[in-house]
Amino acid sequence: MNLERRADSAFSIEDLRMMAMRRLPRLVFDFFDGGAEDEVTLRANRAAFEQTRIAPRILVDVATVETRTNILGVPAALPIVVGPTGGVDLGRRGGDVCIAKAAADSGIPYTLSTRSSASIEEIADAAPGRHWFQAYILQNQAFLAKMIDRARAADYEALVITVDLAVGGKRERDLRNGFSAPFRPTRAGLLDLVSHPRWSIDMLIRGTPPAGNLHGLDGDAAPRSTLASAAGRDYDPSFDWARLAALRDVWPRKLVVKGVLRPDDAERLSSLGCDAVVVSNHGGRQLDTSMATFDALPAVAAAAGKMEVMLDGGVRRGVDILKARALGANAVLLGRATLYGAIAAGAPGARRALDILEDELRRAMQLCGAPDFARIDASVLADSSRLQRARAGLSVGMRMNNFAAV
Ligand SMILES: Cc1cc2nc3c(=O)[nH]c(=O)nc-3n(C[C@H](O)[C@H](O)[C@H](O)COP(=O)(O)O)c2cc1C
Repeated sequence: MNLERRADSAFSIEDLRMMAMRRLPRLVFDFFDGGAEDEVTLRANRAAFEQTRIAPRILVDVATVETRTNILGVPAALPIVVGPTGGVDLGRRGGDVCIAKAAADSGIPYTLSTRSSASIEEIADAAPGRHWFQAYILQNQAFLAKMIDRARAADYEALVITVDLAVGGKRERDLRNGFSAPFRPTRAGLLDLVSHPRWSIDMLIRGTPPAGNLHGLDGDAAPRSTLASAAGRDYDPSFDWARLAALRDVWPRKLVVKGVLRPDDAERLSSLGCDAVVVSNHGGRQLDTSMATFDALPAVAAAAGKMEVMLDGGVRRGVDILKARALGANAVLLGRATLYGAIAAGAPGARRALDILEDELRRAMQLCGAPDFARIDASVLADSSRLQRARAGLSVGMRMNNFAAV
């Protein structure tokens, strides 16, 4: 089946996920699909959306629907940004470019990960569109500064600083599967590799995909480190508010901070002059049992001042985007949704993921009597207890701030 036809045979993000699962050896799929420790947060991100109900309005003219919105002050066709994901090319060679092209075709921004295979410059050339660069704070500060300069030279619109990865999360699927650097598959893992010959032979012949932005970064692999902990080894756990302020001073364009869950942190980021925050727990891959992003959203939105607020984590349905808007996000970021699409069916698969979410979002807006995305508010939600809890959380956040000032 060609890629277009395969993509068209998916009707939901879950369909794309299943296709991705069939295509990959289990240990590789688990790297993309899994979360940290008991995966409580991974499940909580989904559960928070699923447990929130809508109270649809009737007899509203929904013949036309407006999904356009401003993202970082610039109009976008949809309230969606493709978020940064590293290691994509392990799932499909050329996967970063596939996803970047799909984002450009859909008229939305694309975020390139520090740990992508395609480099900053390759993405700028291959997929003209709105590009953001996600920077992990490397211990090698000179190298980090050079990467940021490259993003500026290649006209990236925004720098996204991920702040929830001071160290790598403990991802037990990877540990059990021996998905580590150096690669040490278990006996079952070896059988799994043999039963996926296309993937395995490609890796044997062409080698594992390069880290396009990290050529020249020093560092020996620690024994039995998973990709997560190997990544964590390069990062600088001493990065703090003062260093973020210094980054704000040297990066003149839009600055987005990703990995914010607390209103007091949001307030402080606003006073530092950041342009946007992403309410994120890294898709449940870092600190397990940290709160669901949808639960964190309203308090962060209330404390964000002039900053734009986005959310990621568990977005798998168009109606999730509507709910995120209702609690104060002006856009969502996608992690696994476009990733599954690209793994399942390349660029058409990534595009299919975006088309599915757009179709579902439009339909949800029509069915709940909310034709203009920008004007959706909490009144579309039936379940106001979540909002009330979040408001209570906000006042706790404020009290903590007062305490800190004493
Ligand atoms: C395989 C994978 C790799 C990721 N790599 C990065 C990364 O390099 N930088 C980053 O800031 N976040 C990374 N993330 C987190 C995503 O940007 C995003 O926060 C998360 O996936 C959102 O949750 P979702 O996958 O449920 O949509 C990664 C997530 C996954 C699943």
